[in-house]
Formats: sequence, C-alpha cells, structure tokens
Amino acid sequence: MQGMPIRAILFDVYGTLLDVHSAIAREGKELGARAESVSRLWRQKQLEYTWVWSLRGEYRSFQTLTESALDFALAAHGIEFGALRDRLLLAYEQLDAFPEVAGALQSLQRQGLRMAALSNGDPEMLENGLRAAGIRGALEAVLSVAPLWIFKPDRQVYERGRAWAAAKPDEIAFVSANAWDAGGAAAFGFRTFWINRAGQPDEYDIPRRATTIRSLSDVAAGLI
Ligand code: LAC
Repeated sequence: MQGMPIRAILFDVYGTLLDVHSAIAREGKELGARAESVSRLWRQKQLEYTWVWSLRGEYRSFQTLTESALDFALAAHGIEFGALRDRLLLAYEQLDAFPEVAGALQSLQRQGLRMAALSNGDPEMLENGLRAAGIRGALEAVLSVAPLWIFKPDRQVYERGRAWAAAKPDEIAFVSANAWDAGGAAAFGFRTFWINRAGQPDEYDIPRRATTIRSLSDVAAGLI
C-alpha cells in the first residue's frame, strides 16, 4: 500500500479512538450478564439509524440517534429506562480512549503530521468526548458530519476530510476500526488503515483496498 507521501491523517472516533463499550462497562454493572448484549445492540442500532436516516435524506443529530438506540436496546431487553438511561448517556459523553491511543497519537504528532478527527458525532459531543478522554490536544481539528446533514459512508463526508487536509486522497491516511467506514474511506481513495482489534473476518473489499492493523500503534509503521 505504499504510494505518495502522507500529508495528513484522519481518524474515526467512536469505536476507533473511543471505546463505545466503556459506557456500559463503567455504568451498567446492574445489567449483569445482559451488559454485553445491551451494549452491542445499542451500538448496532445507533449505526443502523445513521444509515437509514441518511438514505431517507432526513438527518437527525448523532446525539438523538444515540439516545433512540439506547432506548431500543433497553426496551428489547425488557429493562426499565429510569436513572440507568441517564447514567449511560452521561457515560457516553465521557468514553474511555482505547489504551494505546494517547501514546500512538503523540508519537504520530512528533512525526509532524497534521491530524484531525472525522466523525459522525455532533461537534459538541466530539469536542467534549475527546477532551474528557485526554486526547483532544493531539488533534489539529475535529470535523463532524453535522454541517453536511449526512453520515458516513457517504462520500461527502470523506470529501470534508480531504478538503480540510487540502491534499489529494492518496496523500491522506484514514484510520478506522469500523470496517464499513474503512471500506468507504478506501473507496474514496484515502490510504486506509482498518484497525481489527477483535480479529473479525474481512469485509467491504478491505483486503484489496486497505491495510489491516491490530492497534493504533501500528499506523506509524504502516506510513513508512
Ligand atoms: C464515527 C462513528 C463511525 O465516529 O463511530 O464516525
């Protein structure tokens, strides 16, 4: 996957820099054995809603979709909303970064590369969440889909990242742990890295179009 020198790196946020399952890990202990299933359904519905609303041409904020997805996941498990819902949404505003993320961003920053987040999240959610996780300072910009009123993997979103970098797609690295997002970014023409932390099967043409890595720490080596 070698090619043009890289001038900027764009990072997906939820699931890539921030661990979406850390909200329930921290605040959902009363869910017991159902915790993992609720967390997975919450995430899956959140993503499904982004795709469905995008196809319908009716944008809803990521915060609204995150709340609707949690409501669905709790209801599907027969769980009363109550205080737990509020605690989980608050925890979602303060997700943990994956353990290697802060160190890996610092080391990429030392290489002098311009770096930005490019995410489905709302601007305020992103700013607050990245700050709470202690990694906002490593990023020059935080780019949200909000002004576009459409979610990834619509090409307009990747174009927003390209325009910020003011470079050609193959001079820009894009990093995501979401295979559908990495696939979209690779199809747009970014030099794409898919972080496959959980050893999932390949999909979305990733083996042909992108580089698969195991953690954010592997990006630096892939840029050489
Ligand atoms: C994001 C979603 C994909 O941060 O998690 O854009």
